[in-house]
Amino acid sequence: MNAQLRPSDAQEPALRYQVGFAQEFASEALPGALPVGRNSPQRCPYGLYAEQISGTAFTAPRHANRRSWLYRIRPAVLHGAFTPLAHERFHNRFGEQPVSPDQLRWDPLPLPEAPCDFIDGLYTMAGAGSPRSQCGLGIHLYAANRDMDGRYFVNADAEMLLVPQLGRLRVATELGVLLVEPQEVVVIPRGIRFQIGLPDGIGRGYLCENFGAPLRLPELGPIGSNGLANPRDFRTPVAAFEDREGDFRLVQKLDGVLWQAAIDHSPLDVVAWHGSHAPYAYDLRRFNTIGSISYDHPDPSIFTVLTSPSDSAGWANLDFVVFPPRILAMQDTFRPPWFHRNVASEFMGLIHGAYDAKQGGFVPGGASLHNCMSGHGPDAATFEKASTADTRRPDYLTDTMAFMFESRWLLCPSAQALAAPHRQRDYQQCWQGLRRHFDPNRRTPS
Ligand SMILES: [Fe+2]
Repeated sequence: MNAQLRPSDAQEPALRYQVGFAQEFASEALPGALPVGRNSPQRCPYGLYAEQISGTAFTAPRHANRRSWLYRIRPAVLHGAFTPLAHERFHNRFGEQPVSPDQLRWDPLPLPEAPCDFIDGLYTMAGAGSPRSQCGLGIHLYAANRDMDGRYFVNADAEMLLVPQLGRLRVATELGVLLVEPQEVVVIPRGIRFQIGLPDGIGRGYLCENFGAPLRLPELGPIGSNGLANPRDFRTPVAAFEDREGDFRLVQKLDGVLWQAAIDHSPLDVVAWHGSHAPYAYDLRRFNTIGSISYDHPDPSIFTVLTSPSDSAGWANLDFVVFPPRILAMQDTFRPPWFHRNVASEFMGLIHGAYDAKQGGFVPGGASLHNCMSGHGPDAATFEKASTADTRRPDYLTDTMAFMFESRWLLCPSAQALAAPHRQRDYQQCWQGLRRHFDPNRRTPS
């Protein structure tokens, strides 16, 4: 076990991590709790129950297979009967109306005033596909102001990628505890039970539900064996368990809706575990950004942190892409992102600072949606500035961290997102100042 203590976790010194990406991890919170030489001995150490959780098909190829063995105080089957739990703002109802080609943008989701935990604070923005088809994604925001006290959550529909923008998240899972701050992300695999606390008393950010294949690192091709998100920068918790009884609730998402059941003990009672189906965190500031050192702006696939492949090679169910601080050195080149239309659909968010393709309006906590073949690109002010900038010297982009959930599937905005007071109904105005420059008699632009 390669546990390491991160200095930034000093406020909770017991937090330790294993490093690596989706590999075979092993951890025990009590000495000798992990059985040796077999997964399911006749009797487990400490009187624990053995339980396997499989996040991929049993017969998935070895390199893509995700499963873990948990050694726990009680098996996961022990809870009361589930009843529906209404949540009007959080759902997977996508595709109920035709998707408009309009470019869309939103201000940040307002912070709650009444008590609101992570589950209460979920707000659906857009999505595609469905949990039933194990294909597509759900894009949501969250804004909360209290811990999930006495409630535990499990998502049977999706792997969950959490992107905090405001406030840290303490994510206590069956497999251990992760602490993340803005500019870090956390991924909770399908079916892993967890509870979210807000160490700063407030939390806002983005959530992507991935109904498809688990996120993995992209292939590097000619880049070679290093670069982009490096596997050793991912951290997975060590085993930590709660031996706690009480009047708790288990909230489970299945088939696009929430269910809840009484549970008289903490489901985070796993004393030891081993395997590859495990939560992990990643600091986006460690991303090894690669770009052009000659001319032109590369395709944004160069910024892919994680990808969920679909059944067609190269056509991702979900790409998680970041635009971090970087140096733009391309010469005789329009350096910001170019104007483009794309067969993929793009949902963007801003975690920190400013985004280089817009002079304003896209603020931290905000969001934009550019669907399949909807034209977009730099606003008029950015175009004017970058078209006349001196490209003999590099530009240093600092204080920025934007990201994108990109998918091959058309992203259907929710009715509440379209009707939201914080939707910027004048978004398209940012391009209206793009002037005509064409002059058939002047080959060299003035
Ligand atoms: Fe784009």
